[in-house]
Amino acid sequence: MDIVHTIADVRQQVRDWQRAGLSVGFVPTMGNLHAGHISLVDAARQHADRVVASIFVNPTQFGPNEDFDAYPRTLNADAEQLRSAQCNLLFAPSVDEMYPDKNLTWVDVDALGDHLCGSSRPGHFRGVTTVVSKLLNIVSPDIACFGEKDFQQLAVIRRMVKDLFMPVQIIAVATHREPNGLAMSSRNGYLSAEEKQQAAQINKVLQALSAAIHAGNHNYRALESEHSQTLEASGFKVDYLNIANADTLAPATSPDSRLVIAVAAKLGVTRLIDNVTLVV
Ligand code: PAF
Repeated sequence: MDIVHTIADVRQQVRDWQRAGLSVGFVPTMGNLHAGHISLVDAARQHADRVVASIFVNPTQFGPNEDFDAYPRTLNADAEQLRSAQCNLLFAPSVDEMYPDKNLTWVDVDALGDHLCGSSRPGHFRGVTTVVSKLLNIVSPDIACFGEKDFQQLAVIRRMVKDLFMPVQIIAVATHREPNGLAMSSRNGYLSAEEKQQAAQINKVLQALSAAIHAGNHNYRALESEHSQTLEASGFKVDYLNIANADTLAPATSPDSRLVIAVAAKLGVTRLIDNVTLVV
């Protein structure tokens, strides 16, 4: 696996592959890789002849009081994992490479980005869609893989690709979980061993909510408040726990059939997100 740091180098390699008739899969990441990221690489390998991963901690998707500076940068260990997963090329640009001038062009997906994490992390999705547009323009892959754990990110990116006629197929990859149900995340590294056990409660609450809805309880606002209280009582500070329409991400009402139950909650200093989807 080659590691390149410039846009020119990644473009050259991808052009050579595409000229040789090989398809290219892309896995964008912010590094500090775990088994969930590797499952994205595995999915990309199943859909394409060559796989490019990127590692870039994107400053424009972090709010002023968020963990941009503290976000773990573990390039050497990440490169080892990608090599073992048979990734073909790692693109690890600097901030200056991705944002050489003051950035004046932003990609913003209306409405979908306003709900869930959009309300508590203003500007976050604008940063994500802007950097993902840049990365897709640089790599020009045939397919790109994103995890379902970031359900809203996936929805926003799918919509951006559709609205802007981007010639790439977005592949959704199921959330990778610890044996106790905790969704894998680079931020899990901030959790103590005890918090890691406690954090499993998030998925238990999602499963309980899903079971209640399947059993016929469609009183969504009451369910949200009851289960938020359960999480608060277990030591979480709940940012949101929403039962939403899986297509619009707006609060679900009883005629909606495709639902997502999405949660963001802080345990100590760590903000965790998770979701389940269901059809009623
Ligand atoms: O999911 C992530 O790791 C990031 O939001 C992404 C898609 C790599 C954009 O920076």
